Amino acid sequence: MAKEAEGDHRSDDAMVNSPLLRACRRKTVDMTPVWLMRQAGRYLPEYRALRERYSLLELCRHPELAAEVTLQPLRRYPLDAAIIFADILLPVLALGVPLSFAEGEGPVIGAPIRDPAAVDRIPEPDESPLWPVAEAIRIVRAELPERVAVIGFAGAPFTLASYLIEGGSSRQYVRTKRFLLTERSAWERLLERLTELTIRYLMLQVRAGAEVVQLFDSWAGALAPAVYRDAVLPWTRRIVAAVRELGVPVIVFSTGTAGYLDLVADTGADVIGVDWRIELDRAWNAIGARAIQGNLDPAWLLAPAEDLRKAARDVLDRAAGRPGHIFNLGHGVLPETSPDAVAILVEFVHEYSAGVRD
Ligand code: CP3
Repeated sequence: MAKEAEGDHRSDDAMVNSPLLRACRRKTVDMTPVWLMRQAGRYLPEYRALRERYSLLELCRHPELAAEVTLQPLRRYPLDAAIIFADILLPVLALGVPLSFAEGEGPVIGAPIRDPAAVDRIPEPDESPLWPVAEAIRIVRAELPERVAVIGFAGAPFTLASYLIEGGSSRQYVRTKRFLLTERSAWERLLERLTELTIRYLMLQVRAGAEVVQLFDSWAGALAPAVYRDAVLPWTRRIVAAVRELGVPVIVFSTGTAGYLDLVADTGADVIGVDWRIELDRAWNAIGARAIQGNLDPAWLLAPAEDLRKAARDVLDRAAGRPGHIFNLGHGVLPETSPDAVAILVEFVHEYSAGVRD
């Protein structure tokens, strides 16, 4: 009864029954939990079929559609988590920033932020474009068994700021770095605004039923360690602390940060998501006593099944059955991937890791 009154979806039972939540807290599991970044997406014919009728933003705007896309991979594979279908750039709509997705080119920001005055023109957020995400989470949570964790997510401030400043994807992040290095106080004001918005967005997701939150700092690896520590880390750390305060574990994912994973761990995240540019055991040494997520190169899903299994086995052997490993790719599933390869991988991770523990 007391539990009911708290209205808490993170009941003790869920803690016991969800291998992914257990791994976040470095508790023992019967088999290694596995989910894949971009597990919903273009490699699935059923996703492509929906995309013929709706744009990416339309999918995000309609909770039933976003929930449907989220659930597509769960119908095919015994995954341990569902990541809610949205995009890290969705929150910029709450700041009145025009956003579109150009075919084959990725995101396009209508009015990039290129000077301090543009930062000061950012209006107070109107969160209504984010409400459908919360509604999609409610639908997905109700559809899935307790065993499957629902993951909410947001972009971390640096990666989000890089899109706002560059106007889209980038190779060198020259505009972003110039802004950060020459307009330091405006940079801090920008990160401040993004941090506040992100905290509110994640609270919305947690209240709707997200049991874990992943922060995507996909492009943090563009920075030198000292710049990351000084100009990015404090804001990411604030978001992590705000979510953890709700009793929800946080995964911080980045790529290209193998040289400073200790700093990424300083975000205070429960779980550090790592890419494939470092071996899992070495990454684990670098982050110390916390959980780890990763880190198979997604390209292995394009290789012959036996080689895919071997590469996955190497990741699992490096984890060596230690509590606190969540199996994932080192970045998202490539659109060229065969759905059958994903089936092989998920089955292998479960079977092999269960065997190691016998
Ligand atoms: O299954 C899931 O992972 C959930 C859905 C999800 C999407 N984007 C949907 C999407 C998630 C978690 C994201 C995160 C995201 N979006 C990141 C961080 C993860 C990463 O890959 O580093 C970034 C950097 C973005 C920004 C973004 N969105 C880019 C660069 C692109 C274009 C590149 C591409 O993959 O096409 C997008 C578009 C996008 N977001 C697609 C999907 C399924 C593909 C486009 C489509 O369906 O038309």
